[in-house]
Amino acid sequence: MAMEIAVVPDEKEKLMDNSLYLRGVAHLCGTGVARIPSKYVFPPSDRSAGDQGGAHSHQLGLPIVDLSDLHTPNRATVISLVGKACQEFGFFQVINHGIPKETIRDMTDACQRFFDLPFEERSRYMSADVRAPVRCGTSFNETKDKVFSWRDFLKLTCHPLPQMLPHWPSTPANLRDKVRPYAVHVRELFLELVAAILESLGLVSEEEVMKEFKDGTQLMAVNYYPPCPEPELTLGMPPHSDFGFLTLLHQDAVEGLQIQHEGSWLAVKPLEGSLVVNVGDHLEIVSNGKYRSILHRVVVNSRLPRMSVASIHSLAPSAVVRPAAPLIDAANPRRYIDTYFSDFVNYLSTREVKGKNFVQSRMVVGAQDEERA
Ligand code: OGA
Ligand code: NI
Repeated sequence: MAMEIAVVPDEKEKLMDNSLYLRGVAHLCGTGVARIPSKYVFPPSDRSAGDQGGAHSHQLGLPIVDLSDLHTPNRATVISLVGKACQEFGFFQVINHGIPKETIRDMTDACQRFFDLPFEERSRYMSADVRAPVRCGTSFNETKDKVFSWRDFLKLTCHPLPQMLPHWPSTPANLRDKVRPYAVHVRELFLELVAAILESLGLVSEEEVMKEFKDGTQLMAVNYYPPCPEPELTLGMPPHSDFGFLTLLHQDAVEGLQIQHEGSWLAVKPLEGSLVVNVGDHLEIVSNGKYRSILHRVVVNSRLPRMSVASIHSLAPSAVVRPAAPLIDAANPRRYIDTYFSDFVNYLSTREVKGKNFVQSRMVVGAQDEERA
């Protein structure tokens, strides 16, 4: 009951309209709030506080895959670790991934400077159009979200890079120069991981298949979570799965990402120098459900800002995403219908994306029933 009383909007809040929230949480924090407006208060069942008490049981670490052996005679061992991690967790951390430390540092510094810009400067890139090549915004899907998440973002379309670069922010002055090398490296790493994952599924990463990924989409989402005065009432990101084939995430030293594992939330401890890799909806479909995209969310804290950079990669927008033929047989009937990139974009622009509802909408009817059972 006390919780309910706490969320009754006060007089000041009644005067705020949605346009203030649309300016983002960094801006809201700049106005000096001691309590969070009710717009950011999640229903009790969705909050993070309820299960924090069980934190001791959440210490289980994610698999860590050392990629240094990917091109040695030990490749098969790496491939089997990758496959096992995709199947058991849908998430893993990679070390010795080949992206130079300086490239990552320059990229994160430039992104941090972007979020440090005055609101007026940043707002030049604000857009509610989900198809804009570059946009900054707030929450998860600001045009659809009933409750807002404690998160601001900058999304940069990265492919084809030469065409996209001129759209990227011109301030801070060197953002394009500092972020571009990371975009190039992370794409190379993605292609290495795709080859490994296809191999782990027993699919050959033939030229023809790899070409579809070489022409694939790449979106970089820079997430910024300012400290929150009442972190237990809200979330940085609500539970969701990522829509692409794979997401490669760089997180800073502040903890916040949690993944759903065996019915509870498991915190992904930041590991310096590593990247977090996770199975997206498209890989779930291609693998005919052998690898599943996993629900994950972000919790915020009252002390430290947190920044993460998610590179979301998939097939070319024109490609059809469908279960790979060798993974369909009598024992494993086809579980997903053909999916086009435009299906996802249309879905995104017409309704609230919640949990795994997009990929569930792509399931064959029988498979859906099986899933619920
Ligand atoms: C995402 C995401 C996690 C994080 O961008 O899709 O899940 O730690 N980010 O910010
Ligand atoms: Ni995500």
